[in-house]
Amino acid sequence: MIFIDACFGKDTPHTPVWMMRQAGRYLPEYMKVRQKAGDFLSLCKTPELAAEVTLQPVDILGVDAAILFSDILVVPLEMGMKLEFVKGEGPQFPKPVICENDLSALDINRAVENLKYVYETIKITRSKLSHENALIGFCGAPWTLATYMIEGSGTKTYSKVKKLLYTNPRFLHAVLFKVTETLKLYMEEQIKSGVNVVQIFDSWASALEDSAFFEFSWRYIKEICAYLKSRYPHIPIIVFPKGISGYLDKIDGDFDVFGVDWSTPIELAKEKLGHKYILQGNMEPARLYDKNAIKNGVEHIVSIMDARRHIFNLGHGILPDIPVENAKYFVDLVHSLTKK
Ligand code: CP3
Repeated sequence: MIFIDACFGKDTPHTPVWMMRQAGRYLPEYMKVRQKAGDFLSLCKTPELAAEVTLQPVDILGVDAAILFSDILVVPLEMGMKLEFVKGEGPQFPKPVICENDLSALDINRAVENLKYVYETIKITRSKLSHENALIGFCGAPWTLATYMIEGSGTKTYSKVKKLLYTNPRFLHAVLFKVTETLKLYMEEQIKSGVNVVQIFDSWASALEDSAFFEFSWRYIKEICAYLKSRYPHIPIIVFPKGISGYLDKIDGDFDVFGVDWSTPIELAKEKLGHKYILQGNMEPARLYDKNAIKNGVEHIVSIMDARRHIFNLGHGILPDIPVENAKYFVDLVHSLTKK
């Protein structure tokens, strides 16, 4: 699999490419299956249909890897929190974690057991996916999940979780610890079910100042990496802490690929981390609105990375109103410009 070779720094015939959020609303084929399922969570919980949408971007766009169709928030859901996807408002936990009792009501083993529909989706997808294509498993980072669990929804100010961080750090650490323990076992089950590589999404990393990032986010990501690497060294790990370009000097840990977000210049990431880790990324997703913007974006990244030690991706998720034709143009262009 060229994707896995690339994760380990081996030479490949071209730079592999995929897009974060590549299975989603910009694909009419996705909307059809979602309608059949009824709603988003039912789609996640119906393995046959979730496998179908996982495979769509590989068939339609020719990306080198499929990413499991699920969501980072199914973990707190199956730990015992009620989760709602409110149209136009994004995901919400109507009863957020506020006190010790809320936390002790959440159950690690129950989550790992209840997430069977994810493992089933992986098994079906892997059986249908070509051996040339990698299947990516994923989870949210403990900090990003804890933020959702404590805020109850997306947030601009992070006021509830940050208030805890400075007034009751022990409690926040207790939440992070419990989520981390769950994620270790959950990712282990994903690997046993057949994923070839895993990615940890820390979408809210940029909310934290330097010292807080390393204390409340990065150390837990590193713990998950160490747990998985000691047991499954052949499974590459991709980390994606979004918006932390100021802290790159202090990044270390037992992972293989560092996901660069679009706000971090690829030159800077290469200088600071390119010798230690394979880099993934990082075209600004909005460039997909225009073919010329795509061409300039791809050419710039190719000029810096020179088709070495690199996996192509966007610098965050694809937006729901991107023309499919442009997404395909992006994938084809990466393949042709990086061909050896
Ligand atoms: O990348 C993929 O194609 C695989 C599936 C995937 C989804 N969510 C499907 C999804 C992945 C990897 C995620 C990760 C995820 N989910 C993150 C981390 C990545 C990032 O973007 O920063 C976060 C923060 C979430 C939480 C979440 N779930 C949000 C903010 C939303 C969007 C709400 C909205 O209305 O747009 C979701 C829902 C969601 N997850 C959708 C999809 C395809 C949209 C559901 C739909 O309308 O069909």
